Amino acid sequence: MNRLVFAMPGNEALASQLAHACSASMGALTTRRFPDGESYVRIDSDVRDRDVVLVCTLDRPDEKLIPLLFACDTLRALGAARIVLVAPYLAYMRQDIRFQPGETLANGVFARVISQSVDRLITVDPHLHRVHALDEIYRVPSTVVHAAPAIARWIATHVDGPVLIGPDSESDQWVREVAALAGAPFHVMTKTRKGDRDVEIAVTGIESHSDRTPVLVDDIISTGSTMIATIGHLRSLGLRPAVCIGVHAVFAGSAWENLQRVAARVVTCDTIAHASNQISLVAEIAEAIIAIPEIGTGS
Ligand code: R5P
Repeated sequence: MNRLVFAMPGNEALASQLAHACSASMGALTTRRFPDGESYVRIDSDVRDRDVVLVCTLDRPDEKLIPLLFACDTLRALGAARIVLVAPYLAYMRQDIRFQPGETLANGVFARVISQSVDRLITVDPHLHRVHALDEIYRVPSTVVHAAPAIARWIATHVDGPVLIGPDSESDQWVREVAALAGAPFHVMTKTRKGDRDVEIAVTGIESHSDRTPVLVDDIISTGSTMIATIGHLRSLGLRPAVCIGVHAVFAGSAWENLQRVAARVVTCDTIAHASNQISLVAEIAEAIIAIPEIGTGS
């Protein structure tokens, strides 16, 4: 097969599973930091005329971006036929509006930079809110892999009598689909965000499900504030401790420990390597890679 899969640092396990699932070979690259903090990147495989899949999830993006750009530039200089970036988590998607005058519209800047370096993008459930599709900001073709079917399968086999709960209107898209696939009722709450770590949750009509297990489903768990506030609200209404499912395990600071203290269970998909990963999306991402016809003549 022509495809060569490279792992940027921290993506080795996912990249190797994807290579196996796509019957592709692994490429080798070396990265390190110089004492002054600058990045060093070396491509150690022959990539001439090869179709390259570069795996780099983009949480904590600032430290990952420069090595990624260096790797892309070097792959091109060495004659790679095409670079497909697999970034299961796509950063900066929540900064999709100037909330205050003078703010950077970070989603667009980030998209332009990535689009200049790769030929295609594969990602998992990007945070689409005021931007409705990736091609509104990305200039390269993209494939969005959906976690809903895998999450629904996990719920069906791990939770008795679930009621699905979306903490805010943006989560409606995931919760509605997962609930339909899992054959469970769902509710979407109203969230008011007062600060990075300060959210207020409101809901009506959930009390009738007090005999069910609440399952919170959201795309991103970052500070955990959304999930923690939702759990507190549900407890005050007499519901059971909730199972929390996030697609992307960002977990800023002590979010993981804080959430574990109040949730019955915390589970995520493997878009960002984390101890909470229980739901694998390897098959779905591999399918998206395979669906792109191979180009290049290398072997
Ligand atoms: C925002 O609208 C997202 O869908 C998540 O609800 C949010 O990113 C969660 O962030 P945090 O864990 O910091 O509350």
